[in-house]
Amino acid sequence: MTVPTTQTNGASAPTAAAVHAAGVGKIFPGTGGEVTALASVDLDVAAGEFVSLIGPSGCGKSTLLRLIADLDRPTSGDLSLFGKPAPKARTDQDYGIAFQQAGLLPWRTVAANIALPLELHGSSRAERAARVGELVDLVGLGEFQDRYPDQLSGGMQQRVAIARALASRPRLLLMDEPFGALDEMTREYLQSELTRIAGETGAAVVFVTHSIPEAVFLSDRVVVMSPRPGRITDVIATGFTAARDEQLREAPEYFDRVTAVREALHGRRLERADER
Ligand SMILES: Nc1ncnc2c1ncn2[C@@H]1O[C@H](COP(=O)(O)OP(=O)(O)OP(=O)(O)O)[C@@H](O)[C@H]1O
Ligand SMILES: [Mg+2]
Repeated sequence: MTVPTTQTNGASAPTAAAVHAAGVGKIFPGTGGEVTALASVDLDVAAGEFVSLIGPSGCGKSTLLRLIADLDRPTSGDLSLFGKPAPKARTDQDYGIAFQQAGLLPWRTVAANIALPLELHGSSRAERAARVGELVDLVGLGEFQDRYPDQLSGGMQQRVAIARALASRPRLLLMDEPFGALDEMTREYLQSELTRIAGETGAAVVFVTHSIPEAVFLSDRVVVMSPRPGRITDVIATGFTAARDEQLREAPEYFDRVTAVREALHGRRLERADER
């Protein structure tokens, strides 16, 4: 029999990091030789924290997100979510995912698309209806829940995808360029919506983007990655404590952080040019 002697034991204590990656590497086999997509990535994302991953195309952002989501396995290193191995976090529905394409089922209504994870989880019809009602309100689609995806704009489809990702009340959202295909105005609107939703739900977010202003506006920390093999080269804390609103987009500290992230990205690019 084991006798607990401290209050701090328990790998899945509420204080466990939403994501803990230590020395994570990923090598893909290939006909032309192996591709080292990620090399020795160390990253901790706190519960409730918003972290963006930014870096040149092919630097391993999606690969890292897919490893966290247990859609692929690391070649080396340790990876845990809320103190659990990634496969356990997956079966516990600890995270929701949203990608660049909304990926909605065209034959299902908005409400039925959002309810899908709840059906897979075995929720009752009444529970599903109540939760879907909350979620369509959260993403501002109350009047559209009986529509089909092809009757919605791209921005509305992404909002459905976000609602679906939130359906099982995950403590973590994993998002891979979710606004990449949208026009600038819709994109800024959904960025504001996402920060509101993340604040209201208390979910941590790992968000992949190519947009420096988007990363800065959304994030508590911006993680800058280098190309091949992908690794983390800089982590820039934005230090924004107040709510993200439209005033922030015009604030001097916002431009300061945009410049800092841009310089971090460009520094790497210049080094690469020197290497050639
Ligand atoms: N399944 C796979 N098999 C082989 N190589 C892969 C596989 N997935 C990714 N790669 C390689 O790993 C590297 C990282 O790819 P990844 O998709 O993670 O980049 P990314 O940073 O998300 O790029 P982008 O910004 O263009 O989306 C690339 O060189 C890519 O070719
Ligand atoms: Mg990608």
